[in-house]
Amino acid sequence: MKKNLILLCLCIMLLADDTVLIPKEIALQNAKHAVHKLHTLLSSTVKTKYRQEGPLSAAKFCALESYSKIKEMNKKLGSNISIKRISFFNRNPNAYPQKDEVNILKAFDLIERSAAYMPKEIVQAMGYNTYKVYFPATMSSKTCKKCHGEKSIVNPKIQKLFEDNYPYDKAYGFKSGEVRGAVVVTVKIEDNNINIEKRNENENK
Ligand code: HEC
Repeated sequence: MKKNLILLCLCIMLLADDTVLIPKEIALQNAKHAVHKLHTLLSSTVKTKYRQEGPLSAAKFCALESYSKIKEMNKKLGSNISIKRISFFNRNPNAYPQKDEVNILKAFDLIERSAAYMPKEIVQAMGYNTYKVYFPATMSSKTCKKCHGEKSIVNPKIQKLFEDNYPYDKAYGFKSGEVRGAVVVTVKIEDNNINIEKRNENENK
């Protein structure tokens, strides 16, 4: 009898865990999809401009077009999902983290300084059906330094472009591999979406 009771409790615990896990997994999937799109949008354009027209042209794209491209992308993604970039050392004034984002960004910094392995992402619960998924933005290629490295090594024309557009620019001085900030995807899970997933899960059991 006691054994059965313990088994029953275990089953309930497992089921309860599922209901929490499923929406989080949907959020993560949607967030990864959005990040992939953003990466394709920014990285491929910057690389092409850089190769075909040179670093100044790539910098012009980043300074004058990238923010509105991200806005356009957000419109296409719909009202339940949005994507943005944040950093304590921001170039665009809109990229400073919100209050609830500060600790996660600090966490990336602490992980980096502890020589620990950087997670691919961190998921933050923002209420019963909303999640923020944070992806570290690292100085992963040499190209990053052309615009975010030591100011003294940045092309003077690019420096001038940034000075004209970002009077409070803090985004210089980064080394290869360092965390520059984060890409944040906010995902709201529709209630009926949660139910469908739960039902599928239960039917598969
Ligand atoms: C050709 C210049 C250029 C290159 C190369 C470049 N960036 Fe940027 N980056 C910019 C500019 C300009 C902005 C500000 C865009 C805006 O107004 O939103 C920016 C903004 C950012 C932001 C948003 C936070 C902020 O400071 O406004 C992050 C994060 C970032 N860059 C990371 C990177 C990483 C990582 C790489 C390399 C993979 C990289 N950048 C390569 C020019 C560049």
